[in-house]
Amino acid sequence: MVHLQAVSTVLFLLNLLQAVHVNALRPSSYAVWAVDSAISRGQGNGLDTNGKPLVSYEHGELQWALRLLYERDGNKTYYDYIKTGVDNVVSSNGTVGGGYSATQFQLDPLRVGPTFLYLYNQTGQSKYKIAANEFHNQLINIHSRTAQGQFWHKLIYPNQGWLDGIYMGDVFYATYTQLFQPNNKTAWDDITLQFTLMFNNTIQNVATPNHTLLNLLYHGYDFSHTTIWADPDRGHSPEIWIRALGWYSMALVDTLSIIPTSHPGHKILLTFLQTLTPRIVSAADPTSGVWWLVMTQPGRSGNYFESSGASMFVYSLLKAVRLGYVSDKDGKIVAAAKKAYQYIVKNWVVDNGDGTMGWLNTVQVGSLNTDGSFDYYIGIPTDLNDLKGLAAFALASIEYEHL
Ligand SMILES: *[C@@H]1O[C@H](CO)[C@@H](O)[C@H](O)[C@H]1NC(C)=O
Ligand SMILES: *[C@@H]1O[C@H](CO)[C@@H](O)[C@H](O)[C@H]1NC(C)=O
Ligand SMILES: *[C@@H]1O[C@H](CO)[C@@H](O)[C@H](O)[C@H]1NC(C)=O
Ligand SMILES: *[C@@H]1O[C@H](CO)[C@@H](O)[C@H](O)[C@H]1NC(C)=O
Ligand SMILES: *[C@@H]1O[C@H](CO)[C@@H](O)[C@H](O)[C@H]1NC(C)=O
Ligand SMILES: *[C@@H]1O[C@H](CO)[C@@H](O)[C@H](O)[C@H]1NC(C)=O
Repeated sequence: MVHLQAVSTVLFLLNLLQAVHVNALRPSSYAVWAVDSAISRGQGNGLDTNGKPLVSYEHGELQWALRLLYERDGNKTYYDYIKTGVDNVVSSNGTVGGGYSATQFQLDPLRVGPTFLYLYNQTGQSKYKIAANEFHNQLINIHSRTAQGQFWHKLIYPNQGWLDGIYMGDVFYATYTQLFQPNNKTAWDDITLQFTLMFNNTIQNVATPNHTLLNLLYHGYDFSHTTIWADPDRGHSPEIWIRALGWYSMALVDTLSIIPTSHPGHKILLTFLQTLTPRIVSAADPTSGVWWLVMTQPGRSGNYFESSGASMFVYSLLKAVRLGYVSDKDGKIVAAAKKAYQYIVKNWVVDNGDGTMGWLNTVQVGSLNTDGSFDYYIGIPTDLNDLKGLAAFALASIEYEHL
């Protein structure tokens, strides 16, 4: 008995020591912990898992977080990681490699474009400007549009606008315009149009059977109404998918800090953000404070709380309040973001015990190349350490740590 007690005391002390040890290895900032863990795993460095150059929006998203942290903490490792990652996909003469092809006119790869512009602005090296010009040229001279003017999501998805594409393409378009053509009204009009068409054509404004009326944005729409999921009402897809709305809300807060306040688009984007913000807050699950993968069918069997979208909402809500884009007189928005953030940290951050953290519950993909149904979305597996979720968590943490 005594012996057993002694053993359990020793075990208890060992556990305690281990916990202390782990804490010592672990940065106190979750934002730092998240990006350091990604870096230590070699994630987001302009290469795929086989070491081949890859232009990837997930890398662009991580680079955005690294830039913010470099500006906040001055850790040059982050700047160097950004530069190495871009140099893996931009050759010395400015050609973009890594599988990029302008003629497929995909919006996804353009998400790395803001990093090209950042590095051009920092270094003055023309290769980064040439690379950014390649992306810009795709948008202006190659990319197909719907009759209303929305960029197609990709060549293989004709006439389709997806919320995801706004984060991928238009934050780049805005950053480019800010740097090189700040007085180009046509360009600011066009950027505003992309947000507006997406909003007008996907906003949920009527109740449908078995779907909660959230008045938020469906994942996408098909202007030609020909694809299998296109609703007779504006051609929208059937469900509100958490990550698509997450991308759109991040694009709103990020673009609002780029588009000139003197351009009418600023006011239009503000209105979208002010409209969506309280609805996103209301759509949170009241107990956990986070959001369902398929937001339109809360609690349905197979549905679950998803981590990338939740992190994107936390980032957007807190940034919107911090920059005064939405007013939070009663503190409800910040309270909702805090509650969600605490759930996120408690449930989806794993201490690996080696100084790194793991990241849970980010759904691998959500594509509209299927029927866009509830069963489709819930049938996609989640990934461990998925970069687009982990980078979103870093962004959410940066905002949380501003509080
Ligand atoms: C900077 O980041 C690197 C890599 O993530 C980390 O190892 C290092 O400790 C950081 N340096 C400081 C001064 O925080
Ligand atoms: C630029 O560099 C790439 C990769 O090194 C090469 O394939 C391409 O031919 C070069 N283009 C020009 C115009 O020099
Ligand atoms: C370029 O750098 C300047 C000075 O650091 C900064 O004020 C500006 O916002 C930067 N522009 C872009 C597009 O990064
Ligand atoms: C202004 O922007 C439009 C649309 O992006 C572009 O077609 C045009 O070439 C730009 N004009 C100038 C003077 O940069
Ligand atoms: C979007 O919808 C609003 C409200 O119905 C309308 O005033 C506006 O003209 C629409 N914009 C576009 C580009 O369709
Ligand atoms: C709504 O849900 C009920 C119960 O699960 C089901 O029987 C019905 O077919 C559903 N209706 C539609 C239009 O999906």
